[in-house]
Amino acid sequence: MEKKLIAVCGKGGSGKTALVALLTKYLLENKKHRLLIIDADPTMNLSSVLGLFPGKTVNTIREQIIREARTAGKAEKNNLARSLDYLLFEALIEADRFSFLVMGRPESLGCYCPVNDFLRSGIEMLAENYDVVIIDGEAGVEQINRQVMQNVDTVVIVSDISNRGLQTAALIKEVITSHKEIFKYQKLGLVLNRIHGQEKQLQPHILKTGLDLFGFVPEDPRLTQFDLEGRPLLELPGDSPSYEASGNIWAHIIAPDQ
Ligand SMILES: Nc1ncnc2c1ncn2[C@@H]1O[C@H](COP(=O)(O)OP(=O)(O)OP(=O)(O)O)[C@@H](O)[C@H]1O
Ligand SMILES: [Mg+2]
Repeated sequence: MEKKLIAVCGKGGSGKTALVALLTKYLLENKKHRLLIIDADPTMNLSSVLGLFPGKTVNTIREQIIREARTAGKAEKNNLARSLDYLLFEALIEADRFSFLVMGRPESLGCYCPVNDFLRSGIEMLAENYDVVIIDGEAGVEQINRQVMQNVDTVVIVSDISNRGLQTAALIKEVITSHKEIFKYQKLGLVLNRIHGQEKQLQPHILKTGLDLFGFVPEDPRLTQFDLEGRPLLELPGDSPSYEASGNIWAHIIAPDQ
């Protein structure tokens, strides 16, 4: 399989983080890829969903660099720039059979742009060492506009079965496909989450988004229970309906285009 750099995006609360966790679990249990998971959402929910808590985030390190650069002389600044990749590795969590990187949020409120720039170059460098990189993105289209996802080859748009979710999905598609000169993606597809067996009824709504379907994830009471108890989704039993859907979605993500 060629290398995959996958971003998961969609409306707030649509199930992006849950899907990243389900795909992680699927890959860990069924494939031998070198896997990097990135939490690029400033709210940092993926940590608790994976049960992994970073000592440092990429942003902690970024701010450390800014602070040191303020007081540094020219030679020290050059050293700082050179140690950037080393510093980035400090934020990398080595979990059991995969790596996890949390971007974090800047202390100063407002603009996340500098983090996103840092994210982009950081991902480029790190991704070299992995077969599969999955990014849990920020809700909505913000991060896409900031071009965090330029180097992503596959975009997975998650929606629940709501009009707003599907409209956001269509909007994300619009933003990405209308800037082909910026986004180098090869594949773009939809995952419909929290369905209750309405696959057929949903077809016209899927068509309206203009997106290919990567698959469905059913509403899963076990996932709800795990979430409520704060248990990592990687520990979901193998026969959980949401987890059972993940293999099919992965197959669509990596399938060559017709
Ligand atoms: N298939 C499912 N079955 C049951 N509950 C689900 C399912 N998918 C997601 N949920 C629940 O819905 C809520 C939102 O899911 P999740 O956090 O994955 O969404 P998100 O898109 O990452 O949200 P945010 O935009 O805040 O990052 C969570 O409480 C999660 O447990
Ligand atoms: Mg999330």
